Amino acid sequence: MNKILITRKVPQPFVKQLERIGNVVMWDKELTPMPREAFLEEIKDATACLSTLSERIDEEVLKEASNLKVIANMAVGYDNIDVNKASQYGITVTNTPHVLTETTAELGFTLMLTVARRIIEAATYVQEGQWESWGPYLLSGKDVYGSTVGIFGMGDIGKAFAHRLKGFNTRILYHNRSRHSDAEKELNATYVTFEELLKESDFVICTAPLTQETENKFDAKAFEMMKNDAIFINIGRGAIVDEEALVAALQRHDILACGLDVLRQEPIDMNHPLLQLPNAVVLPHIGSASRRTRDRMIQLCVDNILAVLENKPPITAVEFKN
Ligand code: GLV
Repeated sequence: MNKILITRKVPQPFVKQLERIGNVVMWDKELTPMPREAFLEEIKDATACLSTLSERIDEEVLKEASNLKVIANMAVGYDNIDVNKASQYGITVTNTPHVLTETTAELGFTLMLTVARRIIEAATYVQEGQWESWGPYLLSGKDVYGSTVGIFGMGDIGKAFAHRLKGFNTRILYHNRSRHSDAEKELNATYVTFEELLKESDFVICTAPLTQETENKFDAKAFEMMKNDAIFINIGRGAIVDEEALVAALQRHDILACGLDVLRQEPIDMNHPLLQLPNAVVLPHIGSASRRTRDRMIQLCVDNILAVLENKPPITAVEFKN
């Protein structure tokens, strides 16, 4: 009999689909991750696991999980999983690309406009009763319209972000592992080096996945190269940014402001200096969080598990790299 472990509480209709092919064991909390010990215990005899970003799936987990055939991670990113080790153990890893692209790009765009026009500061200003009069430069921000926007990571989400810039008359620069001539033509985007992207962009948008190459890519040197009135947005992964260097850059006004949907440590420590800065907007990793998209992500995980356990090809398997 298959045992299917779901590491976070998901709605019953998804659970029912999986109950057709096995016993489902589901962690019963929506906002609290499964403790490591409980996860290690439950994964031991599981055939499939619907996991989230909260679970670190490394060799310690994989070597215990001798029945495991598939890990369906409810995210497009899979830096929480040692995919190469999983492949050595014969375990398929799947993710949730495509279904979340537009929703995540939309959040990135929202965050860019929010930071550019100082929306959080402005709403707080009203709520705190500080609004006494109109002022010529009261809470004045920065235009996206007519600016240069540099996108770091031109995958599906980067492209969807660039599409949204069409009505804003911007110059689009991008930097990516490989060049995308289709994107260059379709989006009128120009490929530049990382350094050029930093130096020339008014808005730097990070949509990249976390890999060995992208870890700490935005370090002190990178922030120094950016314009003093640049705005930095990160919807990729927290560890792509050296947060200490970012805080220093914001404090020294080496850059103007930032918006982060992803942090190195999630949830962020309430004493983190980023939370003291008026020019930093921090969100709790909600890039793909629309109801429809979250439903689609869970459904894709379910479909991947059903496929693998029924000996069919997975729908969205992650490729392991040598
Ligand atoms: C979220 O960050 C994801 O990778 O889907």
